[in-house]
Amino acid sequence: MTAFLRKPALLLALVVLAGSAARPAWAQSTAAEGQKLAFDRGKGNCLTCHVIKGGDLPGTIGPELKDLKAKYPDRNELAAILFDETKRNPQTMMPPFGRNRILTEQEINVIVDFLQTL
Ligand code: HEC
Repeated sequence: MTAFLRKPALLLALVVLAGSAARPAWAQSTAAEGQKLAFDRGKGNCLTCHVIKGGDLPGTIGPELKDLKAKYPDRNELAAILFDETKRNPQTMMPPFGRNRILTEQEINVIVDFLQTL
């Protein structure tokens, strides 16, 4: 019985260890995934309103998105802006992506990973 219990625990420990060793590559790939979601006209559609490095045909309704890590060192602030910017600015043109379920929490998270590289 104890041998049976110990094996999954060991496996779990290995998975956790492997995960932490691979963190840099993982972080890079989520930023790339975030860029895809941000540029996707049917998803984030951020380029309609924001100039973003690497994006085509941007609009200028919102400010250019750059140096965001310096401006918002806490990633939760960025996530909150994406979730529902009307909380900070009731008049904003920016859609409340989280509240309106345009983007899932997971999608908002990977877009924040991308925004922090700008
Ligand atoms: C319909 C236009 C529109 C769309 C689409 C839009 N935004 Fe915005 N966004 C704005 C406006 C306007 C502001 C300026 C702040 C405000 O209105 O409260 C803003 C502000 C921001 C800010 C704060 C910038 C700063 O320098 O303080 C971030 C970050 C941001 N948007 C990210 C995004 C991302 C990421 C997307 C796509 C998922 C997106 N926005 C889509 C209009 C938009």
